[in-house]
Amino acid sequence: MTDTSLTTVDVARLADLARRSHAVITGLQDPGGAYPASPTFSAYRGYAWLRDGAFTAEGISRYRDVDSADRFHDWVARVLGARAAEVAALRTATADGRDVPLAAMLPTRFTFDGANGSDPWWDFQTDGYGLWLWAVVAHARRHGVPLTRWLAGITVAVDYLVTFWDLPCYDWWEEHVEEQHVSTLGAIHAGLMAVVDAQVLDDARTIAATGAAHAARDRILLTGTTSGRAGDRGARHLAKWLGSDAVDASLLACVVPFGVLDPGSALAEATVDAVARDLEVDGGVHRFRADVFYGGGQWLLLACLLGWNRAVAGDREAALRNLLWVADRADAEGYLPEQVADHLLHPEHRAEWIERWGEVASPLLWSHGMFLILADELGLLPEGSDR
Ligand code: BGC
Repeated sequence: MTDTSLTTVDVARLADLARRSHAVITGLQDPGGAYPASPTFSAYRGYAWLRDGAFTAEGISRYRDVDSADRFHDWVARVLGARAAEVAALRTATADGRDVPLAAMLPTRFTFDGANGSDPWWDFQTDGYGLWLWAVVAHARRHGVPLTRWLAGITVAVDYLVTFWDLPCYDWWEEHVEEQHVSTLGAIHAGLMAVVDAQVLDDARTIAATGAAHAARDRILLTGTTSGRAGDRGARHLAKWLGSDAVDASLLACVVPFGVLDPGSALAEATVDAVARDLEVDGGVHRFRADVFYGGGQWLLLACLLGWNRAVAGDREAALRNLLWVADRADAEGYLPEQVADHLLHPEHRAEWIERWGEVASPLLWSHGMFLILADELGLLPEGSDR
């Protein structure tokens, strides 16, 4: 064992939780391939998100369960492939200068058979389409699967994003539809660049995807940074949305894994620092200061995202602290929830959410997927075929 700060017991416990995370995710995977967000939580039951699913698939791919990740990507490619005509019609309407209502856009979450579902939701979000492109390319590259297997879905996602990448939409937290969110633009940049680099697109799509990816990054760099709130100014870092002076923990993804910023750059370091300063308490990470959802607790998947950034930047000790904080939040069955209430930003709002939707979502597959990613990044996944 090389980690000075990890005991043998810690290493075994982390390996057990990785095995459990894999079992939770694959045990709940729909036979058609979808990863449900959280099968028992009232507001998420019956739905799969591209954002959650993409990160979950990345964790499963790193765990080397190629079949489960393949089946998730097969599902997305099938669902999106079936919407080729719908996306073509949206593109024609836009090209003709007709108004496309947000309700006509592709959904944020799908039922397991690929439908929109009938429950109302904050449904126009583009980040998941970029995230899926990023995840499917990462998986294909890692395991040598030909990307042509998923091309029917990839082309639809690309066509959709190159047309609508610059529309304001709901963010990762399904809020503020009127804004352009920096982590959404980052996901689009990452997804489009990943497929361009993989060289699977025809020439016209390659040109369009490259143009939109660069434009999304330029927009972030030109108008998506801030030096913080008045009275609390510091080094310039990424902003929650274009023109905002706040941070949001989802911004971390713009460094790792999206690569909008090089991890060693001043802007990247200032962004990670600003998120840690504003939103990290004892290794757990809040979404943003004004968060009132369930009182604004600490999100396990964001602690993993911060740890992932720190691991890539070479700060293994700090990354381990995030991983251990997450592992300590597993319940007796080894389930990881969406958030915990150890430290709440707005405790007065917690009861209203419990009354509305019940207890916090658990297990949340995205939390388990992120745990697998960070454990892998730190070399702590169990070895061997039987694991
Ligand atoms: C979060 C989303 C997430 C969804 C499903 C929502 O509460 O804001 O980011 O995709 O839950 O897990």
